[in-house]
Amino acid sequence: MSWRDFWNGEHAIYVSPRHKTLHYRQIATDLIAHIPSPEATVLDHGCGEALDAARVAAACGKLFLCEAAPNVRDKLRGQFGRLDSVMIASPEEVAALPDATFDLVVANSLIQYLSRDELKDLLATWHRRLKPGAALVLADVIPPDVSPLTDATQLLAFGWRGGFFLAALAGLVCTVFSDYRKLRAQYGLSTYTPEAIGDLLREARFVDIQRPANFGHNPHRMTFKAVRPA
Ligand SMILES: C[S@@+](CC[C@H](N)C(=O)[O-])C[C@H]1O[C@@H](n2cnc3c(N)ncnc32)[C@H](O)[C@@H]1O
Repeated sequence: MSWRDFWNGEHAIYVSPRHKTLHYRQIATDLIAHIPSPEATVLDHGCGEALDAARVAAACGKLFLCEAAPNVRDKLRGQFGRLDSVMIASPEEVAALPDATFDLVVANSLIQYLSRDELKDLLATWHRRLKPGAALVLADVIPPDVSPLTDATQLLAFGWRGGFFLAALAGLVCTVFSDYRKLRAQYGLSTYTPEAIGDLLREARFVDIQRPANFGHNPHRMTFKAVRPA
């Protein structure tokens, strides 16, 4: 099984329906904070099920939801297909869009599942598809020194605040026996220092690199914002 198969199948990455709801609500709120104008064309790359995408769509002109997993794209079509301002796309369809399409590109919790070369290719794609002066946000990037234990305690803290503590505890026990843990052990997750991300962004011709607050519940992970020069 690869990461791609994992995301395309049924998985228990969310410990309960409430966890999933609160997660996507928070990600949508964090994404909306970066939308530059109500007319903006926005790409959420590696969006997952994007449960709160209707709220993001209401805050911008057009929202592209890009997902590699065909089964997740089917769910997105079922959920959001009737909204005129939401486009559901595969990575290949995004790569085929005209240059300078987007006012904002966001990728939350994506790049840890990509190889360095895949990330480099995507940075080049995003750079071309962004309008001059528009921003890319890479969120929930894992630094090399954060242990799975930190992820676990952050999930428990989120569960405590969100009212799903016992489900979080049970979910962590299940994770020990899950495909996620096996894949994490087999393929690892890509981690980056701030310097490494800075180098990759500059290499891809992004400028004005900033470190806004991280998306989601885990402040030990990092968010980077960078601009395609005008
Ligand atoms: C950890 S989930 C994150 C989902 C969502 N962004 C969130 O924050 O909840 C990663 C998602 O990225 C998708 N994905 C992986 N590689 C991708 C790629 N190259 N292009 C688009 N989506 C990809 C996976 O199928 C999965 O749904």
